[in-house]
Amino acid sequence: MSFSHESASKHVTGEAVYIDDILVNDQLLVGRVVYSPHAHARILSFDLSEAQKVAGVHAVLCHKDIPGANQMGPVVKDEPCLAADEVICVGQAIFLIAAETEEQCLEAERRIKVEYRPLDPILTLEKAIEHQSLLIPPRTMLRGEPDKALSESEHLLKGELRTGAAEHWYLETQVCLAVPGEGNELTVYASSQHPSETQALIAELLGIRRNEVVVEVRRMGGAFGGKETQGNHTACWSALLAGVTRRPVKIRLCRDDDQKITGKRHRFLSRYEAGFDNDGMLRALKVELNSDGGCATDLSIAILERAMLHVDNAYYVPHCSVVGNLWRTNLPSNTAFRGFGGPQGIAVMETVVDRIARVLKKDPSEIRQKNFYGIDSRNVTHYGQTVEHNRLFLLYDQLMASSEYARRRKETDTFNNSHEFLKRGMAITPVKFGISFTTSFLNQAGALVNVYGDGTILVNHGGTEMGQGLHTKIQRIAAAEFGVSVERVKVNATNTSKVPNTAATAASAGTDLNGMAVKNAIDTLKGRIAESMALYFSEQHKGDPSRPDTLVFEDDSIRDSKHPDRTISFVEAMGMMFARQVSLSATGYYKTPGIQWDKARGWGHPFNYYAFGMCVSEVEVDVLTGGHTLLRTDILHDVGDSLNPLIDIGQVEGGYIQGVGWCTTEEIKWDEKGNLLTHSPDTYKIPSVQDIPKDFRVSLLKDVPNPNAIRKSKAVAEPPLMLGFSAWLAIKDAVSAVGNHDLEPDFSLPATNEVILLAVERIKDEVKARRGAGVEV
Ligand code: MTE
Ligand code: MOS
Repeated sequence: MSFSHESASKHVTGEAVYIDDILVNDQLLVGRVVYSPHAHARILSFDLSEAQKVAGVHAVLCHKDIPGANQMGPVVKDEPCLAADEVICVGQAIFLIAAETEEQCLEAERRIKVEYRPLDPILTLEKAIEHQSLLIPPRTMLRGEPDKALSESEHLLKGELRTGAAEHWYLETQVCLAVPGEGNELTVYASSQHPSETQALIAELLGIRRNEVVVEVRRMGGAFGGKETQGNHTACWSALLAGVTRRPVKIRLCRDDDQKITGKRHRFLSRYEAGFDNDGMLRALKVELNSDGGCATDLSIAILERAMLHVDNAYYVPHCSVVGNLWRTNLPSNTAFRGFGGPQGIAVMETVVDRIARVLKKDPSEIRQKNFYGIDSRNVTHYGQTVEHNRLFLLYDQLMASSEYARRRKETDTFNNSHEFLKRGMAITPVKFGISFTTSFLNQAGALVNVYGDGTILVNHGGTEMGQGLHTKIQRIAAAEFGVSVERVKVNATNTSKVPNTAATAASAGTDLNGMAVKNAIDTLKGRIAESMALYFSEQHKGDPSRPDTLVFEDDSIRDSKHPDRTISFVEAMGMMFARQVSLSATGYYKTPGIQWDKARGWGHPFNYYAFGMCVSEVEVDVLTGGHTLLRTDILHDVGDSLNPLIDIGQVEGGYIQGVGWCTTEEIKWDEKGNLLTHSPDTYKIPSVQDIPKDFRVSLLKDVPNPNAIRKSKAVAEPPLMLGFSAWLAIKDAVSAVGNHDLEPDFSLPATNEVILLAVERIKDEVKARRGAGVEV
């Protein structure tokens, strides 16, 4: 059943209330964060006295003004809220200012005096490796005997792959409004994927108790992982200023500051060795992943783990070893970004499979299909989990047919033979993505459902809305469980005083977890209501009682399935509940069953289930400029029984395009001092309308109910991002056509115009050299 996003009309009319739209009184102060201009330096001294004198300034704070713990680290306590005597990246917060106007803040900032002694920063993965600047000890996963299997393989491939960082580019930059109440009370309107963590960190920072801090999230103007931990920072800074001044304080980062201060997708330097046979079957794979964690741990351990868990993507590798290294550099701490390490791991495997095809001069689609996980055999991953409900073959067969791959492949070849300066390329790539937090205990959720006497329903749950349509899906779930129309259900802003102690809305599991918690709360309510209504029907039919277990909730009414004449409208029934002394408020709780994961061994069953998708992209590359155009994209994606096809298709389209951005145009650059050079939309190129494929066909796989999630649905959010690889590999295919597919292009990610052009030039040079040597090319 499709209906539009619950806030769609509010989004487009501007009625939707974001934090910057919340009305506050004239007590509101503007907050500002003053951050480090050095990637690495000692703070020798500072003087805030002149800044404090600026008229209208209410506070200029340093680390000494923090009443509680100077910490914002979500997992490891290695991230001070305000730097004390050392700064470890450009953008690290050192001071906070609250003033009546922005101009006063800026004036105060100009008057702050700081004396630094610059230290040598680590700004590249190479230097981090050279200095053995590890954040954690290396991690490993192993299945079989990869060294032996490599030595016995008919063919060997070796290589190195760089995948770049990326900026989240949520439309609403980091923002928070903190409003003090009486005593220590603080209400914090945060743009955070993880309100419970925001609440906990603020309480620790201010040295107050969690029951004195309420964090509320109505909606975020996009997050994409960038507000899983990084939303806490702006929230902590605002809360600290509000706590000290006892005035409401709002901090909103301007775009440039947001890009400079916040962490990004982890860039990786990966090395691989693969062994395969003459048929293109993978025998063995050894991978070393080097992740740039930035200056602190943040979520990097779990992100590296997910990368390691996804180096197989959709393919069975009998003998496999993965080493994961997490390096500390002097850049802002890198963080969650849609896919959470998965894309970085999958990029390696997709490169390997593509290269196997090029070595054997076969169509990559054929090599891919051959190596897919099997249905009944060859179906155990390199970490021991069996791939159940494998949709890869269904997707492949249907998509190869619907995209007319074979015919278009021939046309592409014909086109390439008759065009010198334009080359076309195609690629089909799959995604298999594990659904669940790999930190197993995070797989839990809570809900509070209230029904009112007018028959309206108010749902509170622990998940947050960032545009992905979680609240719309929850609304649908609640309506379906109660058997009432969707209009009856409203989903409240997420609030830590209504549903406490929740996990982040992340890992694509928002609907799976919170939907189940909501269902559990509704089951409790329906039990109570059914009991009372069975009594009510029995009172009316003396001698022939109704039983609670035969009552059904359907069509906005409650009726006895054994006695068709006994029916009452939902509204009328709810109107009677108060007089009949029935509580219409219940909590629900859910934790995912059946997950177990031995982190130390890298073995177990970390995922509740897998999501699958597949994509065919066709591109045209201009070999004179390195520019490319996406001509056509066909996607078939598995979302189980969709809770809302419109929203799911939106997620698939958006995920794919976001992936294409990461794979092609989004390039992050720092200068040799660690200053971000690409800190605004004029230097950092996210996809725009012109980058959408000219012909874009997205469908959902039919008749594939998922037994492991609410109402047989399936998570959708992150996996489609990884379908962007098909565009990346289609570009590689087009470049390969420059050398008539005899020479392999060398490719890093993103494939920017420069990368494409250089790859083209290398191939042209090689062709020339071979012709000079009399080799037929
Ligand atoms: N879609 C929109 N429109 N905006 C977002 O910020 N974040 C993505 C994805 N889709 C995001 C989005 C990420 S990183 C995740 S983990 C999921 O949504 C989170 O929501 P879910 O678990 O409810 O799907
Ligand atoms: Mo998404 S990266 O799990 O917030």
